[in-house]
Parts: sequence; structure tokens; C-alpha cells
Amino acid sequence: MLRRFLLLALVTLSIAACADYVGGPYHPRDNDDDEYVDTTGGGSDTTSTDSSVCFTRDVLPILISNCTMAECHDAINPEEDIDLTSYTSIMQGRERIVVAGNPSESKLYRSLVENDRDEIMPPPPRSLTTDQIALIARWIREGARNRDCSNDTAVCDTTNVTYATHIQPIMQRACNGCHSGSNPSASINLTDRTVVASMATSGRLYGSMSHLAGFAAMPPSGGKVDDCTLATIQAWKQQGLR
Ligand code: HEC
Repeated sequence: MLRRFLLLALVTLSIAACADYVGGPYHPRDNDDDEYVDTTGGGSDTTSTDSSVCFTRDVLPILISNCTMAECHDAINPEEDIDLTSYTSIMQGRERIVVAGNPSESKLYRSLVENDRDEIMPPPPRSLTTDQIALIARWIREGARNRDCSNDTAVCDTTNVTYATHIQPIMQRACNGCHSGSNPSASINLTDRTVVASMATSGRLYGSMSHLAGFAAMPPSGGKVDDCTLATIQAWKQQGLR
């Protein structure tokens, strides 16, 4: 009995700690069933024959940035034994959370669209955007493959890099889970273009993201962003931070 109480207290505590990483406001999702809605359309940015989702560039950073803080789904002491820091840990964990081809059968997806506020992931007030959830659904539906697009020049296009089209989306998927809101990590708010640009100028942005010596490796839970993203960050600086 006591053991059970202690276990419950521990679980409650760790959930509270997990939910402490405050992100944006809680947006209830008004879906009445578990069906996913694909609002992303087909691959729009590519002339390559494969227009499926680039997992390493577009999906993994969302999970890392929003779900892998300490006490949550990190590699060290993952909540419910679900480690979301890598493709392997997601696909080959103790519990099967992704059923390739079927978002509605996948716990990973279902937890994002859960109606119960106590069960939804990430715990409120954190939340993923509708587009992010749709992208995860699309990735599962397309077979949940470990696709890395870094060497596909048709997909990884680093010409005419601008803040609005390239950099802001990178920050949103890879960094803003921690570096935004009223209490951003290290007091660095990466939704602010001025902050991002000055970090790019000083080399801190590329240094932290490419895990260079002398910089805190970001994101801290592992899972460095893919080579395409790093090339885009460099290109933005070389092309004048437009
Ligand atoms: C899971 C949460 C999390 C994510 C995601 C994250 N950070 Fe951080 N970041 C932190 C924490 C916590 C600190 C302060 C502790 C430290 O320095 O290690 C920090 C510190 C920093 C610093 C200051 C340290 C230094 O050496 O200059 C920079 C710069 C930074 N982050 C950039 C980024 C960028 C860019 C991204 C996106 C690729 C990112 N962070 C993603 C949590 C996060």
C-alpha cells in the first residue's frame, strides 16, 4: 500500500516536473475522434522523386525540442520508458508507439491529439502546432521511415536562404520548445529575429547547433540537427542574414 502510494507520488512529481517547462499557451484541440487530418499537402519543396517527409530534418527536431527535456522523454531516465531522442529509440523502444502506415494506431500520434487534458502530450501549457501534428501523422502514414534528405540537393536547397522561409521554421522545430515563452532556457528567446541574427553573427548559433568545442551543444538532450539544417544556418550567414 505504502509502496503504491510512493510510486504514485513519484509519478505525479515527475509529471509535474515535466510539465514545468512552460511553452506557449494551452490550445485545446477540437477534434472529436482520433482520425488524423493532413493539412500539409504533398511535398512542396522538391523536384526529387521522393517527396516524403524528411524525418531527420523535419520530424525528429520537433520531438527533441518539445519532448526530451530532463524528466520527460530523454535518453537518461525516460518517462514511461519512452525515449524520443533518436529514430532507433522511437521505433525500437520497449513499447511499440509507432505503427508504420497507421497514425490512428500509433500511440505517438494519438497522444498528441488526445482529448483528455491529463493525457495529452506534451503536457499543457506546452503544445505542438497543428502543422507539426499533421507532419508527424504524414510521416507515420508514409511508413515512418528514417529518411535523411541532407544529400538530396533537390530537397536540401540552400540558395536564397531567408529568415522567414528557412531560419524561423528551423528555430520553431528545433529550438523554440525550450527557447521561447515567458521563461526561455538560458534567457535566450529564439523566436526573436534580432536574437537569432546576433547569435548567427557571433558564430554561437552554428557553434551550438553543430556541437563545436567551446559551445554548449544544442539541443542539450542529444540529437544534433541534420546536415541540411546546419548547411542552411551557414548559408544564411554567408548570404547576409536576409
Ligand atoms: C530541450 C531544451 C532545449 C532545446 C530544444 C534547445 N536548447 Fe538551447 N539551451 C537549453 C538550456 C537548458 C540552456 C542553458 C544550459 C546550457 O547552456 O547548457 C541552453 C543554452 C543555449 C545557449 C547558450 C549556451 C552557449 O554556449 O552559448 C544557446 C546559444 C542555445 N541554447 C541555442 C540553442 C539552439 C540554437 C537550439 C536549437 C537548435 C537550442 N538551443 C535548443 C535548452 C534547450
